[in-house]
Amino acid sequence: LRRSRVNDLLTSTDLNRDVLVKGWVRTRRGNKYVQFIALNDGSCLATLQVVADLSKFSEESLKDITTGASVAVRGQLVASQGKGQAVEVQAEEITVLGTADPETYPLQKRGSDQKGISLEALRDIAHLRPRTNTFGAVLRIRHALAFAIHQYFNEHGFYYVHTPIITGSDAEGAGQMFRVTTLPPEHPPRTADGSVDFAEDFFGKQTNLTVSGQLEGELAAMALGQVYTFGPTFRAENSNTARHLAEFWMVEPEMAFYDLPDNMDLAEDFLQSLVRYALQHCAADLQFLHDTYDKELLGRLQFVVDNQFQRLTYTEAVEILKTAKQKFEFPVDWGTDLQSEHERYLVEKHFKKPVILTNYPKDIKAFYMKLDDDGRTVRAMDVLFPGIGEIIGGSQREEDLGKLEARMAEMHVPADELWWYLDTRRFGTVPHSGFGLGFERLVLFVTGMGNIRDVIPFPRYPKKAEF
Ligand code: 4AD
Ligand code: MG
Repeated sequence: LRRSRVNDLLTSTDLNRDVLVKGWVRTRRGNKYVQFIALNDGSCLATLQVVADLSKFSEESLKDITTGASVAVRGQLVASQGKGQAVEVQAEEITVLGTADPETYPLQKRGSDQKGISLEALRDIAHLRPRTNTFGAVLRIRHALAFAIHQYFNEHGFYYVHTPIITGSDAEGAGQMFRVTTLPPEHPPRTADGSVDFAEDFFGKQTNLTVSGQLEGELAAMALGQVYTFGPTFRAENSNTARHLAEFWMVEPEMAFYDLPDNMDLAEDFLQSLVRYALQHCAADLQFLHDTYDKELLGRLQFVVDNQFQRLTYTEAVEILKTAKQKFEFPVDWGTDLQSEHERYLVEKHFKKPVILTNYPKDIKAFYMKLDDDGRTVRAMDVLFPGIGEIIGGSQREEDLGKLEARMAEMHVPADELWWYLDTRRFGTVPHSGFGLGFERLVLFVTGMGNIRDVIPFPRYPKKAEF
């Protein structure tokens, strides 16, 4: 008898057959005639009702079937008499695979639903929180979005390239990097006073964890036409916000022969496709998050799918912000970066839809962006989403060797270290564009969770990385 997954059993119409199912107990309740076990195996939000008739099972044999225990159940899949489920399993044989002591298992309350234990408290037990309804839902949605990203690109003729994690370059020129060091060979790697003695560098070369795969992605696009990366990136910014992580996943498409409008079209279609995919494939999980946390979630997702994004330049946005009735904490002046209060005003109050801001002042953007004819702005684009702010950052790239070298000199970006990047402008350069989507910001938007720390299995943020 092969093991079935709960998701398949719950939707099965092939009844009155022998099934085997394995999973974790959410709750056990009942009376002295019959016990009901709610079993979850991660395949879906719902639990399977297992009915143990006490004429077949002794109370003693069921005593270890407590919340959190793992069990294997063999029995008949039958139509359920009870409300709330179409089918249930009449148990013939139950084996406890692993017990979970009710005194110490942390997810007791309500069969390990998140109720009764806060999301903050769950971060301290990140190893167990996937067993809650909330994190089960979030992780399944996260998976679906990752899959949809690969599917979208595959269907649109993009190749997935793997860019390095350890790198000698600072792609963004922002200097927010984690240094990679080699530990000294002696073991244990401790000095006399007990502190760890880190060697200076990576086998004699100074390296860091990548902040972006873009520069290497550009090299690949110059050969394969259109590519994307999807990998972990790292930012050593000491920001304790609900939108920043020290380790996050970024999706970075890069396209030869694309200009900025092409880039915007792709970004808009891509985001709408991903949200549509989630609505179609994660309905039960989204409904649960909608009902539990955010009654506007499903409406917001549908709205993004159904409405065109608003496109305007940074300069136009500054004009709107300057004449806004709302008082801002930070003043708005042409040339300064927009704060999240400004972005949110544009998206949530003024346009009431996703916004693509373009043509930012060159001084607040990275060296590789293509200079506009006015010499003051660059062909940058940021996509701003409700409740999130910046979800995508991208640009048309400077393809002209001379102009790129001049920008690098102006911004003190070392040209000798980026000789390989400059080679793409030396040999067969073409106009090209790309962008970076913060994967967790997308998951944050789609799940409606309030904090980015709750949409990645093991969040890394200041002082949080012990496991
Ligand atoms: O705007 P960013 O810094 O752009 C780049 O890194 C470019 N190289 C991308 C490209 O053109 N290929 O980052 C891109 C996106 C942001 O819009 C945001 O969604 C996300 O990455 N992001 C973060 N997400 C979580 N935590 C952080 N600390 C983030 N920093 C950026
Ligand atoms: Mg950005």
